[in-house]
Amino acid sequence: MSKVASRGAVSARSSVRTTAADLLSDAENRIEASRNIEHWQAGLARWDAEVLLAHALGVDIDGDGDITLNTASAAQRRRFEALVERRLTGEPVNHITGHFRFCGLDLMVRPGVFSPRASSEHMVAEAVTRLRRRRGRRVAVDVATGAGAVALATAAQVRRSEVWGADISAEAARLGRANARRLQLDNARFVTGDMLATLPRALRGEVHVITIHPPYVARQEVRTLPVEIRRFEPRHTLTDGSDDGLGLVRRLADDAPGWLRPGGYVLVEIAPYLARRTATVLRRGGFGDVRSLRDGLGVTRVVVGQL
Ligand SMILES: C[S@@+](CC[C@H](N)C(=O)[O-])C[C@H]1O[C@@H](n2cnc3c(N)ncnc32)[C@H](O)[C@@H]1O
Repeated sequence: MSKVASRGAVSARSSVRTTAADLLSDAENRIEASRNIEHWQAGLARWDAEVLLAHALGVDIDGDGDITLNTASAAQRRRFEALVERRLTGEPVNHITGHFRFCGLDLMVRPGVFSPRASSEHMVAEAVTRLRRRRGRRVAVDVATGAGAVALATAAQVRRSEVWGADISAEAARLGRANARRLQLDNARFVTGDMLATLPRALRGEVHVITIHPPYVARQEVRTLPVEIRRFEPRHTLTDGSDDGLGLVRRLADDAPGWLRPGGYVLVEIAPYLARRTATVLRRGGFGDVRSLRDGLGVTRVVVGQL
């Protein structure tokens, strides 16, 4: 489900919007006017306000409980105002609430670990389609996994699979593990390490799908990112320090063939302006049938190659 689709569902099913319309409109207008926030799509300010109000009221955003403003105490209103103030500084909503709904999973997110994006749901769909087609042992690896969103959603949708998430940050791997435990996904495992280096050796030649959403911002471009990204996401989650942002993609194209089965896939989630160069990197790495896939959001592409 896209970010936007899930946003629509909230407005339609919850009575927060009608009973707390004045609070929401005021917050929406202020969020809309904030220069610290990337307004990449219409309606996002409204969604932020709704999520924060539900959080302040202690209401499940996906529930259809009858919420009226009368049920919000003065303390809850003050709490809402404090949450909106935090958002106005650029702090991501996911960090404020500590949660993000991704492919229907309620993920815990934490400052210090990259906050998952709805755009990554497209890569999950492409990975799942390829993994399900495989007869026999189904192994997938999500490199640079962060909080584990792609690994966990893949594991949830293909229960008879083994999914490994790897990240250079121990904090990220710990969060991935905590999410797996909470979601009872015992087919998802997480390791700390540089790219594929710390995966069990026994997986060499056994992996059917490798996914990566790398830190692809060129070193010199980081300072141009919106405040809500630049100030709130750790630098190593945004850039690999290369001049073109494709340092980790080149490393993966070199290393992945040693881990994949014949016919296995690499899927790279990348900015549209980097899709062609990513495709070239994969072809040079020996991958065939290289394609660049678009989704409805248009924020990123998924470039796929087959061994
Ligand atoms: C853009 S974030 C993507 C996180 C996650 N895949 C997602 O979509 O939510 C990039 C991730 O790459 C990780 N990373 C950076 N360098 C790495 C490396 N050399 N090996 C493994 N992970 C790395 C960062 O810690 C960060 O979690």
